[in-house]
This record gives sequence, structure tokens and C-alpha cells, in this order.
Amino acid sequence: MEWGMANRMAQLIRSDGRCCFLPVDHGYFQGPTRRLEQPRKTIEPLLPYADALFITRGVLRSCVDPDNSKPVILRVSGGASMVGKDLANEGLTTSMEEAIRLNASAVGISIFVGTDYERESLLNLAKLADEGERYGIPVMAVTAVGKELGKRDSRYLALSCRIAAELGARLVKTYWCAEGFEKVVQGCPVPVVMAGGPQVDTEMEVLEFVYDGMEKGAIGVNLGRNIWQNDHPVAMMKAMRALVHDKATPKQALEIFTEIKAQDLKAKK
Ligand code: 5RP
Repeated sequence: MEWGMANRMAQLIRSDGRCCFLPVDHGYFQGPTRRLEQPRKTIEPLLPYADALFITRGVLRSCVDPDNSKPVILRVSGGASMVGKDLANEGLTTSMEEAIRLNASAVGISIFVGTDYERESLLNLAKLADEGERYGIPVMAVTAVGKELGKRDSRYLALSCRIAAELGARLVKTYWCAEGFEKVVQGCPVPVVMAGGPQVDTEMEVLEFVYDGMEKGAIGVNLGRNIWQNDHPVAMMKAMRALVHDKATPKQALEIFTEIKAQDLKAKK
């Protein structure tokens, strides 16, 4: 690996080989989604605990101060919306030149395997990987499932992750699944991080699936809504860091969450 590429990867993945990314890119197709209506307010308290931000150029420029930031994974695909015909119909929205100008540590793009736009999204990934290699910027592929959450079985996820790695992604973000997640990770020759999807019912549920995914080989998380849609986002982020970096069990992580939540509630009285 070239020095620049290796250095950027090291900015994202900590020396323990693990990572805790904070995605706040949802507005690029969801608009002002719940609790990300004013991105600066969401991002600021969580920033100290994130290893990197997954973010679009617009929100980066307007809501993150350049002198107080974290490594940036720049979201560079888009062009579809929640109310449009097909969420899978994405193209490249941001040039590599812009990523360099913004001092991005990586770029991120969604792929839509099994959809009408499979070929287009995969060729976009390959093109982006070519450019990334030219400038030493890693590409993170996002295995998107659109609205069809049922697609998150291990066969589908393993297929998507492997294709992403084959086409040049240096890092793959995918979803955890209850059955066969180890096959998803084992079949993918580059590091895998887990997204969370829509907010689940309890904190323990999130902590348990992240723990399970890490045990099965994921190197970390890129978890958004289950952090910042929680009533106590900082408590959730600290609990997540304990799981990822301190190898806490879900029970220990929940204790951290509960303690910080209690301090939070006391401070608000
Ligand atoms: C949105 C994304 C998000 O970065 C990804 O889905 C992680 O966020 P969440 O945990 O909320 O699913 O790619 O397009």
C-alpha cells in the first residue's frame, strides 16, 4: 500500500484495528431526518467520541468547523430521494478534486446490487476506486438495501460486500444479520464495518448486535440513527466506544449508558 493510502487508512482505523465512525449523511436522500434537522447540533456533542465522520460536502462545510474536526469520509454518491422513483438511481455527486480540497481521509459511495441500477452503481464504484488509488484516497463502499430491509440476509450481504471489495473498495460498510454474518465478513477480503439502520426498540438490542458482529469479524461501526436518535446520544456513543475499543460486553456497555444517562437527567433537572 502506498504511504498516502496507508496513512489515510490509519486515520480511520485506530491502532487497535477498530473504528467507531459517526454517519450524519442521511440528509442526502432523507432531507432533515429526525434529530438531524440541524446537523451542527447533532454533531457537536458527539464529535469528540467519533473516529471519523461520514458526511456530505454541504453539511461538512456548513456544520463542522475546520479547526475542530475528525477524519472525514466524504459521501460522494447521491441523486435520489425518499420521494423519488427509485432510491437506487444514484450517481457520483462529488469529484475527487473536491474530496482532496476538503482534506477527506476517504470517500464513500453506495452500491445497489440486485436492483435496476446495479451495473451503474458498480461501475461508479470502480471508477471512484481508480481515482482513489491515483490520489491515495480509500473508497468505502456502502452496501445499500434501499427500503427493502428484508434483503439483509447473509447471502445478499456477502454477495454485495464481496463485489464491492473485488471492484476496489478499501473498506465496506454493510448491515449486521442474525444468521451467517461471519460468512459475510469472511467472504470480504477488506475490513467490514456495520451500519445500524432504523432505530431499534432498546439500547441493549443495538449493543448486542454490534457485539455479535465484532465477535464475527467486523472491525467496527458506522452507526447513525441508533446513536443520534436516542434520547441520550452521548451516553449511547460512549457505550458504543466501550464495546468497540475497550472490548466491553453488552452488559458493561449498557451500564456505561445507564450511568451517563442518569448524569444527563440529573443535569437537566
Ligand atoms: C445512509 C448511510 C448511513 O451512513 C448508514 O446507513 C449508517 O447509518 P444508520 O446506522 O443510521 O443506518 O449510508 O445513507
